Amino acid sequence: MNNILGIDVGGSGIKGAPVDLKTGDFTADRFRIPTPEKSTPKNVAAVIAEVIEHFADEVGDGPIGLTIPAPVKHGVVPFIANLHKSWVGVEARKFFQDYLGRDVTLVNDADAAGLAEVYFGAAKGHPGLVILTTLGTGIGSAMIHRGVLVPNAELGHLEIDGFDAEKRAASSVKDKEGLTYEEWAQRLQRYYSHVEMLFSPDLFVVGGGVSKDADQFMHFLDLKTPIVPAKMRNKAGIVGAALAAQDAADHPDPLDPVDNPKASTPAV
Ligand code: BGC
Repeated sequence: MNNILGIDVGGSGIKGAPVDLKTGDFTADRFRIPTPEKSTPKNVAAVIAEVIEHFADEVGDGPIGLTIPAPVKHGVVPFIANLHKSWVGVEARKFFQDYLGRDVTLVNDADAAGLAEVYFGAAKGHPGLVILTTLGTGIGSAMIHRGVLVPNAELGHLEIDGFDAEKRAASSVKDKEGLTYEEWAQRLQRYYSHVEMLFSPDLFVVGGGVSKDADQFMHFLDLKTPIVPAKMRNKAGIVGAALAAQDAADHPDPLDPVDNPKASTPAV
């Protein structure tokens, strides 16, 4: 497989493009539809079907990769912060496969972005432990060691100084509270130094929409670990979704009932 449709499901938009997995480039222009206000699995699935339809000529009945802004444990969503709560406990991968009539791989949005950066972007081929954080509505995180993803690290929900970290340091909070970059950077400093102490990473990559303004805030940060802006920008989720789909095709998940009928549905 050289070409897989990646779809990135976010709080405001659902975006897709077919991805050339050798180069990480899109083989057709990105297509975006706003996320339905009531972002239940069913409403989101209807929009995903439209995105697939848009690329029908490119993808046929091939597999797709889908990101969602939540952890995904063997196809099941244990909790969700920034989409409709009815996702919780749903066998989401199975639901999408049935609804869309094709192979679907579900991956956490930040995990997808991390894969994209390690394969094609700011951490390309990195030999150590890379922690990517996405700063947006929430804080997403991906931990990738020697090219292998440890899925579902939810480092945006670390409790720091009595707060859920993303409620203090996400870029949406900067906007909501009207913080200057320098004020916001103090919160990022607290956040990244804590993560640095816990995990001793070799590289931090800062993703999310605000990474395009990296020169406005990254110089305020004083860390032992090198920290660089992401390079894949708004392609990261889509490219990472396609990479995850390829990986899932090559390595079926023995603990996911969709891949292995003997596996039981994970308790979440
Ligand atoms: C979610 C993560 C997600 C991040 C970015 C957090 O609130 O728990 O799963 O990666 O937001 O969307």
